[in-house]
Amino acid sequence: MDIILLGPPGAGKGTQAQRLVANRGMVQLSTGDMLRAAVKAGTPVGLKAKTVMDAGELVSDAIVSALIGERLDSTAGQGAIFDGYPRTRAQAEALEMLLGERGRAVDFVIELVVDEDALVDRITGRFTCARCGAPYHERFHPPKTEGSCDVCGAHEFKRRPDDNEQTVRTRMAEYRAKTAPILPIYDDRGIVHRVDGMKTPEEVADAIDASSTARRRK
Ligand code: AP5
Repeated sequence: MDIILLGPPGAGKGTQAQRLVANRGMVQLSTGDMLRAAVKAGTPVGLKAKTVMDAGELVSDAIVSALIGERLDSTAGQGAIFDGYPRTRAQAEALEMLLGERGRAVDFVIELVVDEDALVDRITGRFTCARCGAPYHERFHPPKTEGSCDVCGAHEFKRRPDDNEQTVRTRMAEYRAKTAPILPIYDDRGIVHRVDGMKTPEEVADAIDASSTARRRK
């Protein structure tokens, strides 16, 4: 199955995508992760994307659709989880084309429905271990021993440069203006499942499982 995870910044797309990878062997295609890797590597795409990402705006449709196109074949037979893509109508059209060329189509869309004000807290408090990438949150999930990673014991942590309140607000405005309007494309096909993203990650995962099982039976 090819699944789109849709929701504003901090809705839990990455968290749920990783669970689907671990539990179902699907492949996560996160355009945010791909762009951050490009920025870190200093590639031409990364150089173009950095300023736009730091401002909380959307990178060009052509760049992100090319990134997805390059990786789509690696998901054949396993199913892709599109995390943070598509984010505009042009991207939704590009995805249709890329999947259609491979005899595939979007099977269903999970919309994580959330309270945006709570998301600012979720995002501005999060950080990761600089060595192993383990995720933490200042209030909801701090390391057991302050200053030391629970997983690998490293003492250095990092934050995403776009995880400050001002940028988060811009990212949310971009979501409302450009991404939410693509939902009707999938609603018209009857493939959108709405899940309450304010529940615990486990409850959200259970709701996604129930939706996808129901979908497979159809
Ligand atoms: P991207 O990396 O996709 O960021 P985002 O959409 O802003 O989403 P986040 O990664 O912040 O949140 P998430 O929904 O994955 O939540 P998470 O699981 O991490 O994009 C970054 C930038 O790249 C964009 O602004 C844009 O510039 C560019 N870009 C990317 N894709 C693009 C595209 N297609 N087109 C154009 N530009 C593009 O969870 C967040 C936090 O909450 C974590 O701390 C987590 O532990 C916690 N959490 C998760 N679920 C729960 C829960 N149920 N309860 C409590 N806490 C929870």
